[in-house]
Amino acid sequence: MNGNSAIYAQLVPSTSHPFPRMPACLTFGPVSSPDSDRGPKEEEVSDGKSCSALNPWRHGLPNALIVGVKKGGTRAVLEFIRIHPDVRALGTEPHFFDRNYDRGLDWYRGLMPRTLDSQITLEKTPSYFVTREAPRRISSMSHVTKLIVVVRNPVTRAISDYTQTLSKKPDIPTFEELAFKNSSLGVVDSSWNAIRIGMYILHLENWLQYFRLSQMHFVSGERLITDPAGEMGRVQDFLGLKRIITDKHFYFNRTKGFPCLKKPESSGQPRCLGKSKGRTHVQIEREVIEQLQEFYRPFNIKFFETVGQDFKWD
Ligand code: A3P
Repeated sequence: MNGNSAIYAQLVPSTSHPFPRMPACLTFGPVSSPDSDRGPKEEEVSDGKSCSALNPWRHGLPNALIVGVKKGGTRAVLEFIRIHPDVRALGTEPHFFDRNYDRGLDWYRGLMPRTLDSQITLEKTPSYFVTREAPRRISSMSHVTKLIVVVRNPVTRAISDYTQTLSKKPDIPTFEELAFKNSSLGVVDSSWNAIRIGMYILHLENWLQYFRLSQMHFVSGERLITDPAGEMGRVQDFLGLKRIITDKHFYFNRTKGFPCLKKPESSGQPRCLGKSKGRTHVQIEREVIEQLQEFYRPFNIKFFETVGQDFKWD
């Protein structure tokens, strides 16, 4: 058995489950009032026999969500964690708790990949982190949901966000024009989304009204690039999973300039994220970057104190 085959031979689902499971024979009634605090109504549909004994594969609501932040490295975390045999993840972003909530939980559940009882279900939608209603809606689905937030220096994140928008709409104003109300006075426009998203503490305070901090795990977007195995080790611990994804799964791709996933020989090429991940950023003057660092400093300090981690963004 060669090295890669040995790694992937370990990738078989285990039997224990790290989360309390929603019962397999319960269904959810229509969410007539999506914003009600009561949440969806559970309704028994069998006479107590285990559905999973009949068909072990089913669509379950997610046990864990990658809720943000946009341009933090959320796609990398999703693609890395889903190679774990005990994780099944939705590849697209369902936007249920922000744009599609009116469609109801049955719609949402139907989008999820089928899982065995031993597997957890995961989805990622980075806009949840900055959506005011999202924490309440998620806690009404399940108050034991685990939440993953990938955070990155808010200045770099804003530039990355702007670079992405510019790639789609080349006629937008310059970064400086959007970032400042008055650039000579250094007055930052915190109403611009690219700036607002990076004021992490403001959004986090909203989440902490509905979830305990211990239900949230913060991934460093910077360390995800320099030490993907270390960051993914902590994600696996947080999800209660065996540490199966290790440094053996990654290699640094010099052309891409980022870590990529190794693949077993039988499955073809190694896997890097797509072209929209790891773009060359637009050039921003040093002075502008320093003004933004200054702007974010108090928000960052409060954020570090609250989560009990220093992400070293100075
Ligand atoms: P840039 O394109 O600005 O470099 P998201 O998936 O949340 O939109 O985040 C995109 C960011 O993920 C990229 O931003 C990139 O820096 C980061 N990233 C982290 N690990 C990566 C990897 N292995 N490959 C590509 N991009 C990665």
